[in-house]
Amino acid sequence: MRTLIKGGTVVTAGDTVQGDVLIDGETVATIGRELDVAVDRVIDASDRYVMPGGIDAHTHMDMPFGGTFSADDFESGTAAAAWGGTTTIVDFAIQDFGESLQAGFERWMAKAAGKAQVDYGFHVIVRQVNDQTLADMDALVGQGVTSFKLFMAYPGVFMLDDASIFRAMQRTSDNGGLIMMHAENGGAIDVLVRRYLQEGRTDPINHALTRPATMEGEATHRAIALARLAGVAVYIVHLSSRDALSAVVEARDRGAAAFAETCPQYLFLSQDDLARPDFEGAKYVCSPPLRPRDHQQDLWNGLVRDDLQIVSTDHCPFDYKDQKVLGRGDFSRIPNGLPGVEDRYSVLFDGGVNAGRIGLNRFVELVATAPARMFGLYPQKGTIAPGSDADVVVFDPTVERTLSASTHHMRVDYNCFEGMRVRGKPEVVMQRGEVVVEGDRFYGRPGQGKFLKRGPFPG
Ligand code: URP
Ligand code: ZN
Ligand code: ZN
Repeated sequence: MRTLIKGGTVVTAGDTVQGDVLIDGETVATIGRELDVAVDRVIDASDRYVMPGGIDAHTHMDMPFGGTFSADDFESGTAAAAWGGTTTIVDFAIQDFGESLQAGFERWMAKAAGKAQVDYGFHVIVRQVNDQTLADMDALVGQGVTSFKLFMAYPGVFMLDDASIFRAMQRTSDNGGLIMMHAENGGAIDVLVRRYLQEGRTDPINHALTRPATMEGEATHRAIALARLAGVAVYIVHLSSRDALSAVVEARDRGAAAFAETCPQYLFLSQDDLARPDFEGAKYVCSPPLRPRDHQQDLWNGLVRDDLQIVSTDHCPFDYKDQKVLGRGDFSRIPNGLPGVEDRYSVLFDGGVNAGRIGLNRFVELVATAPARMFGLYPQKGTIAPGSDADVVVFDPTVERTLSASTHHMRVDYNCFEGMRVRGKPEVVMQRGEVVVEGDRFYGRPGQGKFLKRGPFPG
């Protein structure tokens, strides 16, 4: 099957050129002006941007949390991703206590098999560090699972002590893996949470008040210090605050290999959303929490200056009606996480490019190219170039629409950007040369997504 995407503006992280993209089978064959070639199909991209399919390097499909599971599984969540212009996700497999990392990885491989409609890879969440898990890390790097998430928060559930973190970091300095860090000081936060609950402060807003930005800043600083001691890079996930960003900037200015992502919710939503009345604030409970609005400008500055390299979603949806309500009367029982995999591409295009905060090439870098490089997928993914997978979004920058749970495809009963007007829509979405979305029609199928073996860090 040969497809010609004709007459568009081809945008990569490095260039913006007027031209045609020839796709042969699963990969891009050529980019050129007015290509005169025999093809099976022509897609008219005039007045459209032709951009790489998005890579969301932080999702949680079918994830157990607080006695329930995130509402999207690999079938529904990857369909929603495709609708939104994202053609690759990297999800998190979780090690259970007492089991090998390999066993956790295999459980998540089984969850995705036959279901995923876009390509996928895995990071592994490490809950216990011992000689066996360290050896497991080496083996997983060889199997294309090259990044490991550690937690400084959630004592008794995910949190690791500094010695364990340091041991894991030393190991990645030898095996080519990358440590991803959930940086919040879980010990101090837990003490605050118990005190607030004893004092009867149980509403969702208290989720934010008990997880102050200073404790994200402290943990980020500590994570980077430990990584420097181990002589390795570290990647801070879901960075939400100026306090954490300052720790990253300070370290990078001193030459540290410190990297970080932020997420749309931290750029567009705020702590005020947690204060919505009648328990509606529960819809906005995630960790780290949404911050006071004045943190947002710092995060945008971080994206512009490349102190933040990636925008991921941390997509971890829970239905409001029967899951978020588990925390009525006790904010600490509200399942943590927000939906977003479908909206990232358009929200960042509108709030970033249309709003004049970032340029087109930087947009592509943040949503596709940088995650591909960071997580060992480049240049197979994350760009439009001869030989790369033909994961392509034909994007109409003129279409205006309103984001809403009534029209989204994520399997969750609310949209945290409900009512937001955005200009720009993925019109055609292709995965390895096949059209998955065209206009209002979906052509993907469960099992179409392939497991991606990722390369070591740095790629
Ligand atoms: O609230 C969040 N972020 N839920 C997902 C789990 C995590 O820590 O990324
Ligand atoms: Zn986390
Ligand atoms: Zn997450």
